[in-house]
Amino acid sequence: MPRIAVLASGTGSILEALLEAGLPTAVVITDRACAAEDVALARGVPVRRVERASFGPDFDRNAYTCDVVEVLAPYGVSVVAMAGFGTVLGEAIHRAYSGRVLNTHPSLLPAFKGWHAVADALAAGVDETGCTVHVATLEVDDGPVLAQEVVEVLPGETVKTLHERIKRVERRLYPATVRRFLESLEEASA
Ligand code: GRF
Repeated sequence: MPRIAVLASGTGSILEALLEAGLPTAVVITDRACAAEDVALARGVPVRRVERASFGPDFDRNAYTCDVVEVLAPYGVSVVAMAGFGTVLGEAIHRAYSGRVLNTHPSLLPAFKGWHAVADALAAGVDETGCTVHVATLEVDDGPVLAQEVVEVLPGETVKTLHERIKRVERRLYPATVRRFLESLEEASA
């Protein structure tokens, strides 16, 4: 089966689900010190931190993306799976892995794009939200949808409780969808 790289910045619970599902993961890339690094190392997966030097207006997104692509190159991965990666990447990643950069997002896209998807859904007072696995494109939280699942919003819900219930679904849906995607790549190259 083709191998993947996972990009993460946070607690790494989605990363953990990908690894637990046995997806062939060659490397985990992070952009800062984060718990996801420990999750990877505990399972013997190499971590390469491409430290993001700035979160201000001087951040050079294109240069940063080229650094990520360069670090990824020797690992020979076919697919890049973002799992809570806190940096929006530029064109170089989509050129290098065209149509093979995947993402999971905690809303039913195209509703509630962006970093505050769960809070925005709560604030909008919707009865249901959910998660979306999609092919990432240069346009943030856009691109072909591979899978979606609805999560009901319960009375008295907070961002924390709702996000945790959405992530519970993501931990099942993302590994299954990535696996299906890898199998289709394999079939296409057979
Ligand atoms: C997930 O909800 C994912 O959709 C979003 O970031 C979260 C990552 O969670 N992009 P974790 O850090 O893996 O627990």
